Amino acid sequence: MGKVFVDLKKQVDDSYEITIGSGFIPDTLKSFGAGNDFFMVDDNVFRLYSDIMPTERVYRFRADEHNKTHESVVAVLGFLFRGECRRDGRLVLIGGGITGDVGGFVAATYMRGISFVQIPTTLLSMVDSSVGGKTGINFRGAKNNVGVFAQPKHVYIDMDFLNTLTDEEFLNGVAEVIKYGMVYDAQFLEYLYDNKDRVLARDAEVLDYIVTRCCGMKAEVVRIDEKEKGERALLNFGHTFAHAIETDSDHSVKHGFAVATGMYLETDYAVKHKLADAKALEDIKRVLTAYGFDIKYNIINKNVFFGAMTADKKADKKGLTLAISPKTGTGKLVKNISIDQVISYFAGV
Ligand SMILES: NC(=O)c1ccc[n+]([C@@H]2O[C@H](COP(=O)([O-])OP(=O)(O)OC[C@H]3O[C@@H](n4cnc5c(N)ncnc54)[C@H](O)[C@@H]3O)[C@@H](O)[C@H]2O)c1
Repeated sequence: MGKVFVDLKKQVDDSYEITIGSGFIPDTLKSFGAGNDFFMVDDNVFRLYSDIMPTERVYRFRADEHNKTHESVVAVLGFLFRGECRRDGRLVLIGGGITGDVGGFVAATYMRGISFVQIPTTLLSMVDSSVGGKTGINFRGAKNNVGVFAQPKHVYIDMDFLNTLTDEEFLNGVAEVIKYGMVYDAQFLEYLYDNKDRVLARDAEVLDYIVTRCCGMKAEVVRIDEKEKGERALLNFGHTFAHAIETDSDHSVKHGFAVATGMYLETDYAVKHKLADAKALEDIKRVLTAYGFDIKYNIINKNVFFGAMTADKKADKKGLTLAISPKTGTGKLVKNISIDQVISYFAGV
């Protein structure tokens, strides 16, 4: 029997709970599996945790950014349809952000929406993607450009899943953790800097604190602005440049690593345009380099890179919107940035 140390109840809406603990998932999974439960499971997670995995109504999904597509959506819809999933069916998503985003989109659209729960298994999905109800897929090369907001009924975060993450996947999640510090909480950023060795050693006490703190911040932001009309958009800090990096590199740079570089470059851009103070740039650089993140990116194909930025869903006819951190621990949206301004910035770095 594992332990549950946090229950963030009804943080986001009336039906939404986040349970954080360790070692409790085997029992939770045993309690699932009635005739109307369907499971979409990351294939690697299924293999690593085969002893606790469900045996029936399981769709094994190969989580890969190239697979975050409408073809995958159709395949999972077909799985539900063939399994005679009805409107009272429930989709249980076990995996990282890709599984959660695709599966959440399927659940939100199958029969105009069935309920779903998220069981995130990567650091990134625990601190970010599983909470808040953004679901979606990449479409025609544009990141997350098709999707809906749909809240899961419950998010179950079992820290034990982190034990099997590779160092690279673990660090991928750390980037999103740093983002919370830059946008919302300067002290939290310093905590991450001071405790770098314990974070990287995956010290249980430190990780429990980090995941709980990030989920708390995310839940609060989503409570205020579920559909990303303002406040929530600040969590896109680093993401406009990051999505261009992911697309230009054909996803060889993973989401978190792209966000890390994006946070640095967007802050550098902001400082050069007098939108952020130099201390913010110093701070993000200091923390990212302490963790070993790359803060530079060599564009491979300018058309693809800048094309991805203009196709970004944060862009409109008047230009790009950047979520920046003008001062460490704060965030701000800057609208109507012309792509030409961004092109000249990249010509100079
Ligand atoms: N919806 C949102 O609000 C939101 C927020 C941030 C990021 N995202 C999206 O999340 C995605 C990235 O998520 P991710 O980093 O979790 O990627 P992911 O889902 O691809 O998982 C990364 C890799 O880790 C493996 N894995 C998963 N759990 C494991 C475990 N416990 N042990 C060993 N290996 C494991 C997977 O098989 C995969 O190879 C991106 O597509 C990004 O756009 C969404």
